[in-house]
Amino acid sequence: MRNVGLVGCGAIARVHAAVLHALPEVQLCACCDIKRERAENLAREDGCAVYENYTEMLEKEKPDVVHLCVPHYLHVPMAEEAAERGIAVFTEKPPAIDRDQWARLRRAAEKVPVGICFQNRYNPNIRTAWEMIGSGAYGALTGARAFVTWHRDAPYYLDSGWRGRLATEGGGALINQAIHTLDLLVWIMGTPEKAEGLLSNHHLAGQTEVEDTAAVYMLLGGRPALLYASNAYAADAPVMIEFRLEKATLRLEGNGLDIMTPEGTEHRTFTVPETLGKGYWGNGHLPCIADFYRSLEERRAYQNNVDSVADTMEVLMQVYEKGREMP
Ligand SMILES: NC(=O)c1ccc[n+]([C@@H]2O[C@H](COP(=O)([O-])OP(=O)(O)OC[C@H]3O[C@@H](n4cnc5c(N)ncnc54)[C@H](O)[C@@H]3O)[C@@H](O)[C@H]2O)c1
Repeated sequence: MRNVGLVGCGAIARVHAAVLHALPEVQLCACCDIKRERAENLAREDGCAVYENYTEMLEKEKPDVVHLCVPHYLHVPMAEEAAERGIAVFTEKPPAIDRDQWARLRRAAEKVPVGICFQNRYNPNIRTAWEMIGSGAYGALTGARAFVTWHRDAPYYLDSGWRGRLATEGGGALINQAIHTLDLLVWIMGTPEKAEGLLSNHHLAGQTEVEDTAAVYMLLGGRPALLYASNAYAADAPVMIEFRLEKATLRLEGNGLDIMTPEGTEHRTFTVPETLGKGYWGNGHLPCIADFYRSLEERRAYQNNVDSVADTMEVLMQVYEKGREMP
């Protein structure tokens, strides 16, 4: 049985707690939040310990693993603190908010296993598309495009205390909302040879420091990949990802997959695990976290380890370094 400490008891922490409840081999031993009532609410079901101070939780509980569900800028310093004590880390995305933090996380990962919550890599339609592309049945991959068009309003940013500021969120639509889709493109298509983008702020200009819209161009494994991400839409539309191959186009939207060939379109809908959080976050937290614990048990590398997200982080950093052209 592994003891788990959870830090940051806001929106996503509820999903982590529900997943931990579903895994017989782990138990939540402590919840920590600077807002004590949030930690108390989450800890109630398990009757576990409550902390307002992360260091104190690590020292007193000595958990085997910590789940980091805190604001972006805290992921790396909290991962470092855990690693110093030999405690494994499962961190929410993004793994880091700048190059310096990213280098520090990679060093921490030399000491302890560090898992990253890119849960959409476990979505059944993505895995099916990945297998189809890898099989070569539809010829070579020639390009991809993706859209993440969601709605985030001023209260979402202003009420949180950390979103909307570069120092604490690190960016906007790209690093927070579209990072999963960016990761899927990079993960499936391969080494980034070029990455650049335009960042802009349309509907919350003057109210946040971060972009509400990012248009990204990448060359991945020699093929063009385009990503358009915006938080300025009217609603949280399903994410669309399209992979173009020589003999077919694979279009993923929501939980569906369209296989489009000259002969016609085959539509597949996938059954997904129960949605533990918001549907547009994807349904992959359960398989993603379960696989992390299996990897610890089996003493093998975890699929979403720091090495496996390095290309995604390189693209992200390059776009932010070159693309800050906010009005
Ligand atoms: N994987 C996904 O699809 C997904 C979805 C939503 C959020 N997230 C990620 O989860 C993380 C948290 O997001 P959220 O929406 O739950 O945010 P949130 O603001 O709802 O929760 C963050 C919590 O951290 C607490 N906190 C802040 N500083 C702390 C500290 N020093 N010690 C202890 N607690 C502290 C806050 O009080 C708050 O309760 C972010 O990194 C976000 O990007 C991931």
